[in-house]
Formats: sequence, C-alpha cells, structure tokens
Amino acid sequence: MSRPSARAAAAALAVWAAPFASCKQIDLSDQPREETLQPSRYFEDGQSARTPVPGTVPRGALRLDEHLYDGVVAGEPAETFPFEIERSDLDRGRERYEALCAPCHGYVGEGDGMVVQRGFPRPPSLLGTEVRALRPGDIYVTIARGAGAMPSYSTQTEPEDRWRIVAYVEALQRSQFAGEQDVPEEVWARLVRGDDAEE
Ligand code: HEC
Repeated sequence: MSRPSARAAAAALAVWAAPFASCKQIDLSDQPREETLQPSRYFEDGQSARTPVPGTVPRGALRLDEHLYDGVVAGEPAETFPFEIERSDLDRGRERYEALCAPCHGYVGEGDGMVVQRGFPRPPSLLGTEVRALRPGDIYVTIARGAGAMPSYSTQTEPEDRWRIVAYVEALQRSQFAGEQDVPEEVWARLVRGDDAEE
C-alpha cells in the first residue's frame, strides 16, 4: 500500500467518524456509575443496588385512607361505603363479580359455581343469614385477604372495584329478600295500575 492511499484512507475514516464524535455527550456518558447488579466497593454491603429508606412510598402509592384501602373505620370493619354507589358502580361490580367470584359463588351467590361443581370446597351462600350479617368492610377484607379456602383477590382487584363488588353482593342479597316496601312509590302505583307509563 503506498503512503498517499493510506493517508487518503485515514482522512476518509476521519470524515466518516466525525458525526459520531460530535454526537457523543462526553460529560454524561463518561460518568462513573454501576451497571445493574454490579458489585460495589463503595458501600459496606458490597451491593450497588440500594434498598429504599424505610417508609419510602412510591409516587402515587400513598394509601392513608383506611376506609377506602383497608375497609376499616376507627379500627372496626366499615359499615358504610367510602364513596357513593351509583348505578355505574353496580354495573362494574356485577361485571367483576361475574368474572372473579361467580366461578365459585355462582351468579346469584348460592355457592354453586362451576369450580364448586368440579369439586372445590363449597362456599357458604352469600344470601344466607351469616353472610348477610357481614358489614361491607368484612366483605371488602374477605376479597382483599381471602378467607379459609378462598384465596385473596388483592392482585386481581383495585380497591374501588372491591367496593363495587361488595355493593353488587349486597344487591344480590336484597334482590332475594325484597318486599313491597322496597318498591318506590311511583313504581308501585304503576305496577298496581298495571300500565307501562313512561318513566
Ligand atoms: C376459588 C373459589 C372462590 C372464589 C373465586 C371466591 N370465593 Fe369467596 N369463598 C370461597 C370459599 C370456599 C369460602 C368459604 C371460606 C371458608 O370459610 O373456608 C368463601 C367465603 C366467602 C365469603 C364469606 C366470608 C365469611 O367471613 O364468612 C364471602 C363474603 C365471599 N367468599 C365473597 C367472595 C367474593 C366477593 C369473591 C369475588 C371477589 C369471592 N368470594 C371469590 C370460595 C371462593
């Protein structure tokens, strides 16, 4: 290889590499840093990955509202809902109930879901006296933590949806024990008249 052509090649290489050199943000990319899981000689325990300071809460994960998140009011299972239950909450509760609970508890709550028909321990009827005596907070906690043979549904449900499911369970219970007194007056009048007056 003659000298002139070697010089030409070096020049070409310099021209080719020039844009890369200019892209490099020298200060940032040259910082000393540890790669993920690389050992460290700086910290006493030899680990470069540090555990958060005790009590650290990820942004958006502060859960101070005991009623909403734990189902508890003043240390007792809540007797009320942490937000007003609208029709749309019941619809969502029903959708979640039918996806997550009905496989065992059945669509109406009698405890005859498909999983039970295939041999899973039969849960108590959600319409029975014992479960009807439970407070909303009790049912919330059952969903969040599980009970006996029933697994926890904390990873499959958000707190708001647990309350919506609780509301739907209460709706199922009421649907089985509703009497004339539960029918709003104007609807009752319509039923008695037997006509289909507009709402
Ligand atoms: C895999 C089956 C299964 C699924 C799914 C399931 N449960 Fe249960 N559930 C049970 C069994 C079994 C029991 C009885 C637990 C025991 O006492 O051993 C039970 C008990 C209960 C009780 C009564 C708790 C008590 O303190 O007496 C409630 C309320 C309840 N379940 C609600 C729900 C709701 C709401 C869902 C849906 C989020 C759900 N369950 C999903 C099996 C299931």
